[in-house]
Amino acid sequence: MAKNSLKVIVVTGTPGTGKSVIAKRLSLFLDYAYLSGSALIKKANLAEKYDKRRKTAIVDPSLFTRAVLKVRDSAAKKGKKGLIVDSHLSHFLPNKAVSACVVLSCSIPELKRRLTKRGYGRAKVRENLDAEIFDVILVETTEKAHRIIKFDATKVKETDIKKLANRIKKL
Ligand SMILES: Nc1ncnc2c1ncn2[C@@H]1O[C@H](COP(=O)(O)OP(=O)(O)OP(=O)(O)O)[C@@H](O)[C@H]1O
Ligand SMILES: [Mg+2]
Repeated sequence: MAKNSLKVIVVTGTPGTGKSVIAKRLSLFLDYAYLSGSALIKKANLAEKYDKRRKTAIVDPSLFTRAVLKVRDSAAKKGKKGLIVDSHLSHFLPNKAVSACVVLSCSIPELKRRLTKRGYGRAKVRENLDAEIFDVILVETTEKAHRIIKFDATKVKETDIKKLANRIKKL
């Protein structure tokens, strides 16, 4: 399948920054297919083991990438114009397979509130806040040389998501 047959937009960011909320809105505005990274990890059984201390599944980014590219190819066969990938691993996709990478950010107090509300323990909240403070995902995304669209998801208005969708449409 030709890599340019459909647009692949990856939405990444620290857990709780709003990837799922924003990726789903974008897919509706743009009429692109939506792919939940966490659902794919379950469906394709990609979690190798569970890190008890960090309370998180360990997933090899290269296996994740392979599974996403299969979904991309089948979306292309179905004639979809684009695919929105919602995952904090989505930026590990090869640069040539990605049209743009939306990197979400969120203010630290708001992110703390969201993660605490989810019932995450103190250590897991801390780890994720540190990742946001140190821009871990933005650094990884930059290393991949993706076309980056930064988006502050602390307080999002519908009009902001529409503007983002229009920007993606023009790519
Ligand atoms: N702009 C926003 N304003 C207020 N709350 C928001 C906003 N965006 C997301 N939330 C809330 O924050 C929480 C996290 O959002 P979401 O599940 O989309 O994050 P995520 O980045 O997909 O997280 P994960 O990586 O764990 O899947 C949800 O409870 C959601 O309702
Ligand atoms: Mg999510």
